[in-house]
Amino acid sequence: MSFDFFIPCPRGLEAVLAAELAEIASRHLNGAPFTAGAQVPGGVHFRGGWAAGLAANLHSRIASRVLLKIAHRPYRSEQDIYDLALEQRWEQWFSAQETLRVDVTAIKSPLRSLEFTTLRVKDAICDRLRDVSGERPNIDTSAPDVRVFAFLTATDCTLYLDTSGEPLFKRGWRLDKGAAPLRENLAAGILRLTGWTAGTPLYDPMCGSGTFLAEAAQVALNIAPGAERRFGFENLKQYDAKTWQALKAAALDAKHAARASRADLQIFGSDISGDMLVKARANFERAGLASVSLKQVDARGMTAPSSEPGILVANPPYGERIEVRGRNARGELRETGRESRDEDSFHRAQEEAPDSEFFKLLGDALKQRFTGWHAFILTSDRKLPGQLRLRESTKTPLFNGALECRLFRFDLIAGSVRQRPANDTPAA
Ligand SMILES: C[S@@+](CC[C@H](N)C(=O)[O-])C[C@H]1O[C@@H](n2cnc3c(N)ncnc32)[C@H](O)[C@@H]1O
Repeated sequence: MSFDFFIPCPRGLEAVLAAELAEIASRHLNGAPFTAGAQVPGGVHFRGGWAAGLAANLHSRIASRVLLKIAHRPYRSEQDIYDLALEQRWEQWFSAQETLRVDVTAIKSPLRSLEFTTLRVKDAICDRLRDVSGERPNIDTSAPDVRVFAFLTATDCTLYLDTSGEPLFKRGWRLDKGAAPLRENLAAGILRLTGWTAGTPLYDPMCGSGTFLAEAAQVALNIAPGAERRFGFENLKQYDAKTWQALKAAALDAKHAARASRADLQIFGSDISGDMLVKARANFERAGLASVSLKQVDARGMTAPSSEPGILVANPPYGERIEVRGRNARGELRETGRESRDEDSFHRAQEEAPDSEFFKLLGDALKQRFTGWHAFILTSDRKLPGQLRLRESTKTPLFNGALECRLFRFDLIAGSVRQRPANDTPAA
């Protein structure tokens, strides 16, 4: 039996998600049905057996959720949507014993109130279950057993049953977060966009809680992103424990092998904040990634961490000058530090180093000490290339939540680093 799935992801990552899903199907499904579908803004469709949905939950690093399509029909009113939801055989999937949450998202819908539409979908599902079983499920908006999503365009309504539960970027081991951590699935998608592959040196000089590094290390060690967490489908009648146990056992075997591995991953991180590095280390320990190398360094004084050139990736602080900090332009700090010293340097740095000066020195470091590397910088500041005095090779639009960003690529090729003057036209 085959199902239609829709996999939402951060906007800008649709193509890399589609490539990842095809790879998951070929590596983990042993020929079970999987057919790639359309890429649309914010997600990818595919058709496949139940095992394909489970494998996408367990192995996709880029997906936000895995949604199972239940119904699709044109609508004109809330009553049409109520009727569509009432007709569906929800009792096949869950009982009135499970708690429920309904979410509605809409693009250009003519309906006046999404809140009212949400209530109508919820009423229809509860009425349906009461009609067939005599009981209505309870609503729980914070930790529901079952989630239903309705997606409205100007003309059509699609109902989805969620198979993920908590969004998939929650890997289950990251407890210590910095002030502005990247979502894991955005970091994983960016890594794919950089073309990085395991074995190539990877360096994040402003690593914060270490999201890029952890995602890369899991790729290098072949650790499934969902090996440590529970999923929504575990609460559904169509759980198929046997298929799931087989998929999960293979993932846990790979994870145990990874823990035993002494491989030099060539994955390096640094940050000016000792506090952030303590958090990153705690996360890596929990995730079994202790082999990632971390140092406390001011990015303005950074040096290439490996003799071979590789990929540098970072999302620097932006807009909040408060976060661009450092003691002095070449101030390499000690390996682990006490935060009181950091705080001092941070207040001093606000006077010493406005953002533009910080980025000019960062650009100098890239030009002088990263020959042969490819640097990828995610920022919402379109003026970044000018500030770095570097000309980008590409810029890819991406969304960090609602914030529109660019992933700038700089090829630091010997003798031909493409420079740009500070007052060059800002990138579009
Ligand atoms: C937007 S956060 C990066 C978040 C990170 N990608 C994560 O997922 O946790 C920016 C980081 O830059 C660091 N930072 C600020 N100024 C720095 C400097 N001069 N040198 C190195 N790191 C710096 C901050 O401590 C912070 O951790």
